[in-house]
Amino acid sequence: MQTPSLAQPMLRLRDIHKTYVMGDQTVLALDGLDLDIFAGEFVSIMGPSGSGKSTLMHIIGCLDGPTAGSYLFDGIEVAEMDEYELARIRNQKIGFVFQGFNLLARTTALENVELPMLYGKRKDRHERAVIALERVGLGDRLDHRPNELSGGQQQRVAIARALASEPRLILADETTGNLASQQSEEIMQIFQELNDEGSTIVMVTHEPDIGQHCKRLVHIKDGQVLDDEAVPNRLFATNVLATMAAERERELRRKAALASALLSAEPAGGLTR
Ligand SMILES: Nc1ncnc2c1ncn2[C@@H]1O[C@H](COP(=O)(O)OP(=O)(O)O)[C@@H](O)[C@H]1O
Ligand SMILES: [Mg+2]
Repeated sequence: MQTPSLAQPMLRLRDIHKTYVMGDQTVLALDGLDLDIFAGEFVSIMGPSGSGKSTLMHIIGCLDGPTAGSYLFDGIEVAEMDEYELARIRNQKIGFVFQGFNLLARTTALENVELPMLYGKRKDRHERAVIALERVGLGDRLDHRPNELSGGQQQRVAIARALASEPRLILADETTGNLASQQSEEIMQIFQELNDEGSTIVMVTHEPDIGQHCKRLVHIKDGQVLDDEAVPNRLFATNVLATMAAERERELRRKAALASALLSAEPAGGLTR
């Protein structure tokens, strides 16, 4: 019986290959990739489009298997797990936040978060869903459907859904992709809080300033790890958001001063003095 320990990585990938065969064409998406990720890490996978980032995330998430190579989750070879064990890992140990949100359209935020927990036979799924939505700042949007929410709010519903079952590992693929910078910061703030509380997070982004919020950057190219480094000057979303708010305030003051200067310059007659 293998038990997780501090010395043992949570995820250990060795010489991972993944080939996709389409007709007579073969694509080598991962080409001998090695990676260790320990509990408590906050890793950003970066790299150009087509470099294999999403393929890697699917393998890490046990949604797809490698063509060759070894992948140990908590010391256990994933390829040797049966369907039941795989489902248990996906449902209880991993929270997924993938591109396009995958929210059900005619379904409220609350139901979207509750649904995946139906499979886990969780009796407290309603309470957990409410807590998760409050956690991401949507406690007042429980009954809204996706089309009644902004892009950033929909993304936060997807995060609430991922964290409601309190997974040890959160996987996020291009989560901030189509969001405005303030919304992206709000998402990163949630991730940083979750990581501070002990969640291990692996996310994919192609935006360098988003990667700066993580603790470790893994650069991927042509299906291999090109570079692996600690984040030198880490950004903290709470600080970035405070700076953004201060800038908005300054801008508002500047406009107010301009408006009042224009008013006082108005020729007599136009205004009462
Ligand atoms: N399901 C698939 N079938 C065939 N080829 C795929 C499939 N998924 C990805 N690929 C190919 O594998 C390579 C890596 O893709 P992907 O992992 O999605 O890269 P990234 O997320 O870094 O943009 C690309 O060349 C892509 O076209
Ligand atoms: Mg991708």
